[in-house]
This record gives sequence, structure tokens and C-alpha cells, in this order.
Amino acid sequence: MAASNVQPWLLLLLILLPAALVSPQTAAAAPPQPTPAFDENYVPSYGQDGYHLVDMGTEIRLTLDRRNGAGFVSKLRFGSGFFHMRIKVPSGYTAGVVTAFYLASDSSAPDRDEVDFEFLGNVDGKPITLQTNVFVNGHGDREQRLSLWFDPAADFHDYRILWNCFQIVLFVDETPVRVLRNLTGSVPDYEFPEKQMVVQGSVWDGSDWATDGGRTKVDWSRGPFAAEFRGFDVAGCANTSSTPCDSQSSPGMWWNGGGYRSLSAEQHAAYENVRNKYMNYDYCTDKGRFKNKLPAECSYA
Ligand SMILES: *[C@@H]1O[C@H](CO)[C@@H](O)[C@H](O)[C@H]1NC(C)=O
Ligand SMILES: *[C@@H]1O[C@H](CO)[C@@H](O)[C@H](O)[C@H]1NC(C)=O
Repeated sequence: MAASNVQPWLLLLLILLPAALVSPQTAAAAPPQPTPAFDENYVPSYGQDGYHLVDMGTEIRLTLDRRNGAGFVSKLRFGSGFFHMRIKVPSGYTAGVVTAFYLASDSSAPDRDEVDFEFLGNVDGKPITLQTNVFVNGHGDREQRLSLWFDPAADFHDYRILWNCFQIVLFVDETPVRVLRNLTGSVPDYEFPEKQMVVQGSVWDGSDWATDGGRTKVDWSRGPFAAEFRGFDVAGCANTSSTPCDSQSSPGMWWNGGGYRSLSAEQHAAYENVRNKYMNYDYCTDKGRFKNKLPAECSYA
């Protein structure tokens, strides 16, 4: 049959069909992003001595020594997004050393909002703990702790924070490890971050709390301690956006779309598995700490 006999509508169908087959429910991970240099989206925030650009600025090493730690911050503030970082935390003896990737509104303000990944170092041979936390209006006290299924100091892994008007989800590689649904409209006293936040990374001295409740401190003779970060693309609704950050019709804000409003069945199963096998502290089960008044979100975890 001659090519000229092919109907235009059939051609159109063949072009559109593959796109239609990608169901939003399976859109678990973020679409691939370009990998811009650090300087495009971030600036150092403190500890300039401990800040080293590597590989044409596509990687940054932050070091902690007895004089200071180091950190970086996004140039813009965001109101929603799917934030991503590849991180390799310091290896060897790292007791007391905290490596962080987090979103925060003004970190010094008493009413700040914040969403944290914090890696708590350890002595040689003992696993590094991943702590997550959420602050709303300055109220934190929402720690969860995981013993990861891999060594985060051995190689780079992906850490992501999804934040839209339906939920906040923290991912380790493709696995959801923490979920906070937005039920502020329907549940009294429910708290969910609402303030614009910047994206930050840092390494700092947590000797007074991070390891064995502060009993095992940083051993400065083992330093400097180096944390490595890559992946400086930012998929977020910046404070320069003219479209509202909760827009569900803007194709640019794909993280507000169908596949990102709740966990898929597979994601939910993976999340349950993490909670059962790897979580070793959950504030929602710490009755001694909260007496009989567990935070509102604990009834909807
Ligand atoms: C966006 O936020 C950044 C970082 O806080 C600030 O420097 C900038 O002035 C803000 N831009 C607008 C348009 O509000
Ligand atoms: C959370 O949900 C409430 C009620 O639907 C909504 O008003 C609010 O904007 C949402 N929060 C965020 C950060 O989108």
C-alpha cells in the first residue's frame, strides 16, 4: 500500500499513543532533569573554607573541621516542588557529624517551617542513621529515624522531597520513607508547612545530640569530614513564578499532578516495608514523650 494512502488521523494517533500509555499513576520518579552547575541555582551560606567545587562545579564537597562546618542555599524560595539531591555522606569515624539536606523558611525565625533529611554519623563499623523531621510554625518534635538498607557513605544516592498541596513525601532513591498528608482543611490542629522555603545542604557538629544521644562526640583528630553533593537542578515553584504554586493545570508544575497527590499501591507497599523493617524511632509511637496528646497527624500516618 502506498504511503499516501495512510490517513492523517492515523499518523496523529501513532504519534499520540505512546504519550497516552504513560499513566500518571506510574510517574513515581521525577522526569530526568539537566544537571546544571552548582552556581546556577545555589550559593554558599556559611563556612567558605569548607566549600569546594569539584568536576566543573557539578559537585560540591562540604567539610567540617574543628573550626567550622559549611552549607549552601538555593538562590530562590519555593512554594511547592520536587526537590532532589545526590549525596554521599562522610565515611569512617563520623560520630557527632550531621549531614543535612532540607527545605526551610527563615531558619532563625521562631515560626519557621522546615522539612529535613539529617544523616547522623557514627563510630567505625556502626551504621549511620537517617533522621527526618518536619517543623511547622516552629513546632518540630517530629523525628523519625531509619537504619538504611545500604551504607550512605559508600556511594551517592538520591534523596528527594516532594511538596505539593496534597502531601509531603521524602524519598530515598525510589522508596518513600516518610509521608505527611495535608489534612489542614479537615482535621482540627493539623499542621502542614505553608511558608515559602529555600533548599539547603550542610555539614555540621552535632556532638551534643546526634550520636548515642550526645554521649559520643566528634573526634576532631579524624577530620576533616567531607560530605559530597551532586544534582543541582531544582524542580520547584519559585517566588519569581507568576503562576500560583498550587496550580494543578500548569504543565510546568508536574509535581502537583495526578501521580503526585498520593502514593501509588507499589509506593505504599514499599513505604510500609520501610516502616516495618528499618524504622527504629517514630515520634508517633513515643507515648512517654507526648503523654496522651500525640500530634494530630499521627492518627493519619
Ligand atoms: C526570591 O527569594 C530570594 C531568596 O530569598 C530573594 O533574594 C528574591 O528577592 C526573591 N524574589 C522575589 C521576586 O520575590
Ligand atoms: C493544604 O490544604 C489546605 C486545604 O485544602 C489548603 O488550603 C492549603 O493551601 C494546603 N497547603 C498547601 C501548602 O498547599
